[in-house]
Amino acid sequence: MIYFDNSATTQVSPEVLQTYDTVSQKIWGNPSSLHQLGETSWNLLQQSRQQIAQLFHVKPGEIIFTSGGSEGDNWVIKGTALAKREFGKHIITSSVEHAAVRNSMHQLEQLGFEVTYLPVDDEGRINPADVKAAIRPDTILVSIMAVNNEIGTIQPIAEVGEILKDHPRIHFMVDAVQAIGKGLDDIVFSDRVDFATFSGHKFHAPRGTGFVYKKSSRQIAPLIDGGGQEQGLRGGTENTPGDAAMAKAIRLMKENEAATVQREKTIKEKIIQHLSEFPHVKVFSKADDGFAAHVLCFAIVGVRGETVVHAFEEHEIYLSTTSACSSKKDTEASTLAAMKVPQNVAECAVRISLGDQNTLAEAEKFNQVFDELYAGFKKIID
Ligand SMILES: Cc1ncc(COP(=O)(O)O)c(C=O)c1O
Repeated sequence: MIYFDNSATTQVSPEVLQTYDTVSQKIWGNPSSLHQLGETSWNLLQQSRQQIAQLFHVKPGEIIFTSGGSEGDNWVIKGTALAKREFGKHIITSSVEHAAVRNSMHQLEQLGFEVTYLPVDDEGRINPADVKAAIRPDTILVSIMAVNNEIGTIQPIAEVGEILKDHPRIHFMVDAVQAIGKGLDDIVFSDRVDFATFSGHKFHAPRGTGFVYKKSSRQIAPLIDGGGQEQGLRGGTENTPGDAAMAKAIRLMKENEAATVQREKTIKEKIIQHLSEFPHVKVFSKADDGFAAHVLCFAIVGVRGETVVHAFEEHEIYLSTTSACSSKKDTEASTLAAMKVPQNVAECAVRISLGDQNTLAEAEKFNQVFDELYAGFKKIID
């Protein structure tokens, strides 16, 4: 099997699962309980937080555990809206965000907030000058993803941050779900970023884990009210096994990050080089520094994305149609639509997303299978 769908999810690694299992069996107390079992669990939770903070060079109190990327996105956006609604009701975001951001914005629009959706160029990238032009006295939040999940574009986060230095009251959130472990910490944790959202299952941690980086000076409203857990920002008994396992997954990921990114780059280059030889193939992701190394989106124009996905599946090669969330809903790829790619081309798009376990030999196998499949598809296209 060749698993090229790592942006959708990753397999939990055995060492990480071992931690989850051990903590579940041995340190299962409620961190809020006063007795020894509770205290041990509390201490482990804080150690996990501390470890994550250290790995990203932030303060432990700036790491808030969540259940994943969608929760983090919803919380920061709606939590900002709730906390700052008296100062303004205007929000700026891009037109290529993940559905967790996009649909949070839509909900806020229904509640009377105004949202500016910034356009993107033909690489799916916003222009920082458009952020500057969109800022109003009542703007409370700018939310821009670090790496696009459909085609891998890296957004100009540092440049937007520079602009926002002149507007210190505006919250700046970065959806960093596709950026973690990809050599992009300098961008994600650049000094003007106030919030960044992360999801554990994208880096071999268990489902239902994630965290938000929240700059200590910034205040937002909780989305889950409860017993005061996570500094009163996220009620509910903490997921000690999951959070400890996630901390381990991050440590393991960080140990190999540079080598992983380099290997992903080589794999991506090899496949792009091959795909570029075919007249009916359109490659949307580039192999340059403007794109994350792990995402490669292309289309065989004239063959629908799901047909391509299933054809590769026959050879035990797993890809997806752009983003996993939209792939079963028959919606056109929103990033490609924002890039003004015609719908008949966008609906042919498929995404390869690489991870730390992929190899150059898999790229070679992919290219070989591609040749075979293309020969068959060509009969339909021509
Ligand atoms: C950019 C981006 N943001 C948010 C999410 C949602 O993350 P989760 O699946 O953990 O809710 C994803 C998932 O694919 C994503 O790619």
